[in-house]
Amino acid sequence: MKQRGEKIAMLTAYDYSTARLVDGAGMDVILVGDSAANVMAGYDTTLPITLDEMIFYAKGVVKGTQRALVVVDLPFGTYQGDSHEALRSAIRIMKESGAEAVKMEGGEDIKSSVERILSAGIPVMGHLGLTPQSINKFGTYNVRAKEEAEAQQLKKDAKLLEDLGCFAIVLEKIPAKLAAEVTESLHIPTIGIGAGNGCDGQVLVEQDMLGINRGFSPRFLRRYANLAEVMDGAFRQYISDVKDGSFPSSEEQY
Ligand code: KIV
Repeated sequence: MKQRGEKIAMLTAYDYSTARLVDGAGMDVILVGDSAANVMAGYDTTLPITLDEMIFYAKGVVKGTQRALVVVDLPFGTYQGDSHEALRSAIRIMKESGAEAVKMEGGEDIKSSVERILSAGIPVMGHLGLTPQSINKFGTYNVRAKEEAEAQQLKKDAKLLEDLGCFAIVLEKIPAKLAAEVTESLHIPTIGIGAGNGCDGQVLVEQDMLGINRGFSPRFLRRYANLAEVMDGAFRQYISDVKDGSFPSSEEQY
């Protein structure tokens, strides 16, 4: 798709029913992101989510997907530091969920884990820039790599991930100019989130783009629906119908 100049559409999903809709709409890639920690489980960060929980979400998504490529995030603590543990984690995801690839945050610092996972024939998508699993190092979710030193390191990491054999790289919340330069310099596609229009594709979190996640409105987010309003209206109407006895009607009973 990169060679053809065709943009790649990626969206997160965490369950069977939504995956069916996302896949049916023609999405290229479905990401079972560890953002599930935030939008599904209500944690403040992505750190607490476990491998078992990621596999549970991924199983449903794989079941609901016929066409799209399904990529699953390796959660925090399952691949940093020990490449053997990283491979065991990735194998569990592949075996137990049936997904086609894993995503990992980091560059040089996770080189040995990326190498070992790739050597087992498991496709790896990289993730650079704002890497939410490192929130305690960064301290904020602000734009990354605005300074020259960090931008240079990101360029080196992107090249390294390509050389190791990653098939794509997510670039999160970095200046658009830097993302465009990285995209231009690589053969593999970049998928941006808050990284401008120069990337080969874009990714958003399902709940954010559907407008379910009311309090979250970063500059990069485009809302394609206002489901919070639709759902709230439906819930209120249902409560009212139950309370006043108008549901179920005679046609809605046996
Ligand atoms: O976990 C996630 O949803 C992600 C995307 C924001 C890229 O990593």
